[in-house]
Amino acid sequence: MIRSDIAFQKCISPACGATYEVGEALVACPRCGDLLDVAYDWNRARPPSSLEGFQQMWSQRHDPLRLSGVWRFLELLPFAKPSEVVTVGEGQTLLQQADLVAAYVGLQPGRLFLQYEGMNPSGSFKDNGMTAAFTHARQIGATRAACASTGNTSASLAMYCSVTRLMKGVIFIGSGKISYGKLSQALDFGALTVQIAGDFDDAMARVKEVSRDLGIYLVNSVNPFRLEGQKTIMYRVLEALRWEVPDWIVVPGGNLGNSSAFGKAFAELVELGLIRTAPRLAVINAAGADTLSELVQRRGVRWNGGAVDETPIAAYYQSLDQEQRKASTIASAIEINRPVNLRKCLRALEFCNGVVRHVTDQEILDAKAKVGAGGMGCEPASAASVAGARLLCDQGVIARGDRVVCILTGHQLKDPTATVAYHTTDQEQFNKTLGNRGVRRASFANRAVAVSNNLDEIVKAIRLYS
Ligand code: F0G
Repeated sequence: MIRSDIAFQKCISPACGATYEVGEALVACPRCGDLLDVAYDWNRARPPSSLEGFQQMWSQRHDPLRLSGVWRFLELLPFAKPSEVVTVGEGQTLLQQADLVAAYVGLQPGRLFLQYEGMNPSGSFKDNGMTAAFTHARQIGATRAACASTGNTSASLAMYCSVTRLMKGVIFIGSGKISYGKLSQALDFGALTVQIAGDFDDAMARVKEVSRDLGIYLVNSVNPFRLEGQKTIMYRVLEALRWEVPDWIVVPGGNLGNSSAFGKAFAELVELGLIRTAPRLAVINAAGADTLSELVQRRGVRWNGGAVDETPIAAYYQSLDQEQRKASTIASAIEINRPVNLRKCLRALEFCNGVVRHVTDQEILDAKAKVGAGGMGCEPASAASVAGARLLCDQGVIARGDRVVCILTGHQLKDPTATVAYHTTDQEQFNKTLGNRGVRRASFANRAVAVSNNLDEIVKAIRLYS
């Protein structure tokens, strides 16, 4: 088994705190069942004394480890040696100032930034984590990898399998729950795709059993190495802001991997003295998949130094079962009722003085249209961050002059069905295409103009509408 004198795995429960070698493939603490972190002995790891050095690495981008927006920061996730890293050039993403969207959100010009993770090779932020999971899988010699997915994790896993040829991929998806853009990626890349008669929560429960029984490497975000890669999204945000910490990071919440990784990134940067304070974190659920907001906002669940009161959580899950309530939102990527990283997210919320909100499908689609009109576009789940920022501005939690970064987690073309339905169809057809989701108006629809095949008519239409 591979050992490291720098990195180890550690149970997140302060009451347990058991540690394990990096060479073990674990998705929960064998002693108490809680989630695991990748932890480091920073005295041995010798982290940088300042953050500025990282941006100079871009000038060495002929080296694949410098080209990658994840492995440029290897010193802050030092569980692997450079020779062990598996990279396809992920993490070359942009932070853009977005003044049009800022006006919609209610922020002053120059105060809203969008972090476009859709620019990753498979079109979502997942590649940040997958490169780290593949690196660990290679370290331990895994030959097969599996995930349950609402679409993006599976696209990313399938892509890393086909590009690197290191492992065979097995993908579990809920039936009818995945957008065509994402499904097409998994099929095209050649992964074994298993469609379960159920939703993501069912698929997640099954893939855990199957990977345990068959010894398949699990790459869902219960894998602590994956979250190490996702920390780098925050390093790149800070880098783009010239190492100034913003006031807010706003992120959609599904399985809660990102929010957990962001919290860990900031906790470590503070511990290492590389930043003074963390930004505040806002995690945004969809109203139809709002477990985190229900538990935190309504039932008062907190990390509480690791002593989480599990009673309201168990009661809530029991009520979901009794009422057979399934997650339901147009933002299919975050259509999740049982987030596997709940405890780590609670820890991140505590560290970052975070808040949780939920937004409706109507708010998500309107925000998505504004993001699209403002520039680069995103998929519905990603727009939850912008809709959430707007809600928090409205509530006076975020001030008009605050510096806010919304994470756009996935590319616009991941889910064109929702976009086209919003812009072109009438209410009846919208409901037929996407189900009746309480979306009553396409406030910012850009409708196609129907015109007969006649030069005069076409010219008239252009004059009228332009
Ligand atoms: N945004 C997008 C586009 C996603 O694909 C996901 C998760 C999230 C947000 C939520 O992120 O889980 O870190 O809270 N997609 C997973 C998948 C579940 O299977 O692709 P999270």
